[in-house]
Amino acid sequence: MEIIIQPTADAASRVAADLVAGVMRAKPDAVLGLATGRTPLRLYQELIARKLDWRKIRTFNLDEYVGLAPDHAESFHSVMWTNLFQHVNIDRANVHLPDGQTRDIAAHCEEYEAKIRAAGGIDIQILGIGTDGHIGFNEPMSSLASRTRIKTLTGQTRRDNAPAFGGEAHVPKHVITMGIGTIMDARQIVLIAFGDAKARAIAAAVEGPVAAITPASALQLHPVVKVCIDDPAARLLQRSDYYRWVYENKPS
Ligand code: PGA
Repeated sequence: MEIIIQPTADAASRVAADLVAGVMRAKPDAVLGLATGRTPLRLYQELIARKLDWRKIRTFNLDEYVGLAPDHAESFHSVMWTNLFQHVNIDRANVHLPDGQTRDIAAHCEEYEAKIRAAGGIDIQILGIGTDGHIGFNEPMSSLASRTRIKTLTGQTRRDNAPAFGGEAHVPKHVITMGIGTIMDARQIVLIAFGDAKARAIAAAVEGPVAAITPASALQLHPVVKVCIDDPAARLLQRSDYYRWVYENKPS
């Protein structure tokens, strides 16, 4: 893991945008794994501002709420179109998110995995992290080998996401999410996290043991992970001085 600590969320988002833009320029038909939540919004603004060419880019989102129609304001379909896709020249046919209204969830999940494989796999996967250590919506004790499937959210995640829904009671209980095994198949992974509320999850993921109780800790087993965080999210890291020193002294 490369831990990149920046003074602000904006600066960390720019570092993440450099990584994504680099892949898009090197491979005009790259496959991007995308995330929702509050964290990647600055990254998406940065990518929009860079006027990149999205014509051949293919995208797969991590997850979607079960039961929400694509045009529901809080569906991840809506969130992605509002915050990214409608501002770039992406081909609608190249955008993929799980269908939260599918009638056959198991078959749909298998099909989603097959589509990722048929696209040649994910070149770069963007991830946020939950305060409970989830990646995608792989909640604690998710199998570290899991594939795309239905999951039940923790109370903590439903409380974290309640503001967007106007209260916890309105947050769906179930989601379809890429599995940890699916995420681990990406060629490169960029995890972003900002703010003091993420400090515990980041410390557990980066410096704790690899364990299903902290799903993001599985990333320690991936060969190419960059963790782009701001100072508050780095607050509980024991080796933060070393990570800063490594980044400042990278060989040219
Ligand atoms: P957030 O969600 O970006 O809204 O904090 C992160 C996540 O749940 O992965």
